[in-house]
Amino acid sequence: MVNQVLAHVGNTPFDLIDYCRSKGILVEAYSPVAHGAVLKDPGLRAIADRYSVSVPQLCIRYCLQLDLAPLPKTMNPAHMRDNADVDFVISDADMRGLQSTCEGTDYGEASMFPVFGKKRQAEPTTTER
Ligand SMILES: NC(=O)c1ccc[n+]([C@@H]2O[C@H](COP(=O)([O-])OP(=O)(O)OC[C@H]3O[C@@H](n4cnc5c(N)ncnc54)[C@H](OP(=O)(O)O)[C@@H]3O)[C@@H](O)[C@H]2O)c1
Repeated sequence: MVNQVLAHVGNTPFDLIDYCRSKGILVEAYSPVAHGAVLKDPGLRAIADRYSVSVPQLCIRYCLQLDLAPLPKTMNPAHMRDNADVDFVISDADMRGLQSTCEGTDYGEASMFPVFGKKRQAEPTTTER
């Protein structure tokens, strides 16, 4: 079984991931580079520079080290090749730091979508139930 959820640096639902693991469910991480929003973050850029990788590579590797299956999206073949070239290891200390980096990510235009804006759908009315 597979559960596909929003998961990226600074926004990783560990309770849900732990629950899925306990039931043998693979977690797929959609929007692993936060819909592109994390590309602007200078802190992430600095960490990525230490590993001589791009910010998307760092974000994708973060998901892999959590045993998630990241689903990056790109229209650019060069980006696609970079995103598959993630044969490096992020230290435990950096993995912990990446959990809380970029908290409160501004998803830009994508914020209008409930899934990115973290808005919950309205409770169903009595008649809808
Ligand atoms: N189940 C759901 O509810 C749900 C919701 C949202 C998304 N998804 C799925 O998850 C996948 C990813 O969604 P997403 O669009 O939010 O993805 P994402 O991978 O977080 O972000 C995509 C953005 O990052 C940029 N990017 C990717 N790799 C890059 C690189 N190496 N260098 C520079 N920029 C890079 C892309 O631009 P370029 O094209 O220029 O590279 C694009 O603007 C999609 O396939 C989507 O179908 C599922």
